[in-house]
Amino acid sequence: MENLRERISSLKKKRNAIILAHNYTLPEVQDIADLVGDSLGLSLEAAKTDADVIVFCGVTFMAETAKILNPSKIVISPEPDAHCAMAGMCGPEDIKEMRRRNPGAAVVGYVNSTAASKAEMDVCCTSSNVLDVVSSMEEQDIIFVPDSNLGAYAGSRAPSKNMILWKGFCPIHQSITAEMIDDLKREHPDALVLVHPECRSQVIEKADVIGSTEMMIRSARESDNKEFIVATELGMKHRLMKECPGKSFYFPDVALCGVMKMTTLNSIVRCLETMSPQVSLPADISERAYNPVKRMTEIK
Ligand code: 13P
Ligand code: SF4
Repeated sequence: MENLRERISSLKKKRNAIILAHNYTLPEVQDIADLVGDSLGLSLEAAKTDADVIVFCGVTFMAETAKILNPSKIVISPEPDAHCAMAGMCGPEDIKEMRRRNPGAAVVGYVNSTAASKAEMDVCCTSSNVLDVVSSMEEQDIIFVPDSNLGAYAGSRAPSKNMILWKGFCPIHQSITAEMIDDLKREHPDALVLVHPECRSQVIEKADVIGSTEMMIRSARESDNKEFIVATELGMKHRLMKECPGKSFYFPDVALCGVMKMTTLNSIVRCLETMSPQVSLPADISERAYNPVKRMTEIK
């Protein structure tokens, strides 16, 4: 492993590359990344980096988002088949049909979407800024795609908005149930409950803190509490343990996202050596997706 780490470090210098990794990636990938974070934090870094090459360790919509923000840079997705299941649940034609049925409504889309779907949105959002994005919209009627749980959560915090929800969901977060949280709470009654808003509403109701992966880490770091129940993907354990020594974290053990674990140190070495596979998007899609994604990075 040491050999691989050294190889990555020298290839990174040679290519003037930056490595971005999502909070759900493998521990060894997080440890060699220049930045580990949530979708918004990583997009902001991608938007401002002066590196020539961005290696995006996570799922493909994240690398595509970095490319939309930086059309002239080389963006590499080490595992080009690491597709987020939710991102495949609402295509561009579905959004066009929703617009036809709801004239005058704005389309707010979760960043967990393909580039072609983003091209049909008015604005994108992440779990970190969803409430600010929805409440910033002039329109009262908001078509929200693809995540019905995130859309319902945003609607519950913005009662003046009429949320028109698409039926998508994250299978990983959907597998976490309120009973699982109750069971963990019985075992650890003093634990604070941190919940990702991709979870079902019944799980969100159990939360002390609701937020993106980065917000969960920040809350655990800053809290005086010593124990936490964490309703999100298991990859989060690595940073939580690293950044919160002496604290304990309990996860529902069902929440494992296989595609987030596809990127390995070997695949990072391979892509830096071969400078492939590079993200390439049709120009018209990239151009139309730019404004919704750029707006997303400006609402924090
Ligand atoms: P955040 O890290 O932005 O909270 O997103 C979670 C997620 O599911 C990414 O796919
Ligand atoms: Fe997609 Fe869910 Fe995996 Fe996140 S955890 S990448 S939303 S399938």
